[in-house]
Amino acid sequence: MPRLIIVSNRVAVPGTEAPRQAGGLAVAVDAALKQRDGIWFGWSGRVAENGAAPQPTVVRRQRRTFITLDLSSVDFQEYYNGFANRVLWPILHYRVDLAEFTSVELTGYLRVNALFANALCPFMQPDDVIWVHDYHLLSLAKELRALGHDNQIGFFLHIPCPSPDLLMVLPQHAETIGALTHYHLVGLQTEADADNLRRYFEIRHGIAGPSREAFEFGGSYVHVRTFPVAIDTAAYARVARNAVKSRLATGVRDSLGDRRLILGVDRLDYSKGIPDRIRAFGHFLDTQPNWLGRVTFLQITPKSRAEVPEYAAIDRTVSTIVGQINGRHGEAAWTPIRYVNRFYSRASLAGLLRSAHIGLVMPLRDGMNLVAKEYVAAQDPDDPGVLVLSRFAGAAAELDGALIVNPHEIEAVAEAIGIALEMPLEERKERHARMFAHLMTNDVDRWAERFLSALAESRQRPGALRHSDAAPIGLSR
Ligand code: G6P
Repeated sequence: MPRLIIVSNRVAVPGTEAPRQAGGLAVAVDAALKQRDGIWFGWSGRVAENGAAPQPTVVRRQRRTFITLDLSSVDFQEYYNGFANRVLWPILHYRVDLAEFTSVELTGYLRVNALFANALCPFMQPDDVIWVHDYHLLSLAKELRALGHDNQIGFFLHIPCPSPDLLMVLPQHAETIGALTHYHLVGLQTEADADNLRRYFEIRHGIAGPSREAFEFGGSYVHVRTFPVAIDTAAYARVARNAVKSRLATGVRDSLGDRRLILGVDRLDYSKGIPDRIRAFGHFLDTQPNWLGRVTFLQITPKSRAEVPEYAAIDRTVSTIVGQINGRHGEAAWTPIRYVNRFYSRASLAGLLRSAHIGLVMPLRDGMNLVAKEYVAAQDPDDPGVLVLSRFAGAAAELDGALIVNPHEIEAVAEAIGIALEMPLEERKERHARMFAHLMTNDVDRWAERFLSALAESRQRPGALRHSDAAPIGLSR
């Protein structure tokens, strides 16, 4: 079996701080590397002290090799803080209003993609399969091709892909989104995301077969398919059963007494809709005062991307709203909202998720949201809690046993919280069983297997989806 090289911005090098930052992406990559020998290549998470050219650090652990590069402070600013997190992240999350574009940062982004390609070259063999992850590395395949590599290269986008109208707001989008045509396979989280990218390729004169799964650009093919990212469901359920007795979970339960627990777990990010859900909880307390003093909302929100100004702004907004609602409804012996910026490991969170009567997952836009899947996997099947889920999380396309709501509709979210708290046991069990069965079948191992076999197939049968009646569709750029 050919060797697998994973490339992503974050790399979960064992024994370092990095695994906690890589989050859900680490779970996915780990599943892929379970299946074969491989390399995981990317940024070390460090900024180099001096201007010297970065030297790769190589760490070997059994059948895996971790290769990381430091970034210079200019690259860190322009590529990571700048173009990736102030332009691509907001636009792909439908927040065009927050995008701050400069051509210097785009140049920095393309430069770091080229830097990664050059640094990876000495480690590559001709039959290695390359799997690139996420929005930081859209142009990596183009750079590898320019260096003469003909390997199978696939790409998976963990975050949403908006419609062509929004993608084309991105200045010089041909350099970034357009560069995806250099991959053999591009994987997306949902059919809606895949359809958006297909329409973008059509606008760019890709020649599509009737199934619209493969597009020809100048004699080479890029395939576009959906692979909803998943979790290791059986393992997570096991961890949650044990972690329910952990110090964190017992400590929180003891502190609550008879009160119900509503739990939210999200990185501090404007895409997560944290202010909106807090307002919705406030509205719930306003409109259903019988619950005053009987329920606590715990929002766990580790901070991230602290140097990006929009993140400092969301930090201030959330703290202010939490303070207002606690001031309005709190009592000396009851704080309605507990807002915690600490990081907890996935394992200890599993115990808390299992203890929560409601998992409140309310992003305004999210590629998938693995917390939603972890909440379901963590539940006690004999007495499960209720998932209240935003319709704008990729997970909503799969988790039909959740109460699905529009996070912008504060009143509807408040109402859903009330319905979830009152939901009879039989209905909770039935909804949970349905979702759990889906997650057991569609777990992360299956996700990795499906992607890698589609990638192999896209290379072996590049014209398979080509049809004689194929013709360019769509408008000019
Ligand atoms: C999202 C992205 C990942 C990213 C993670 C943490 O989940 O899809 O690619 O690693 O956020 O963000 P950070 O900027 O800290 O890597």
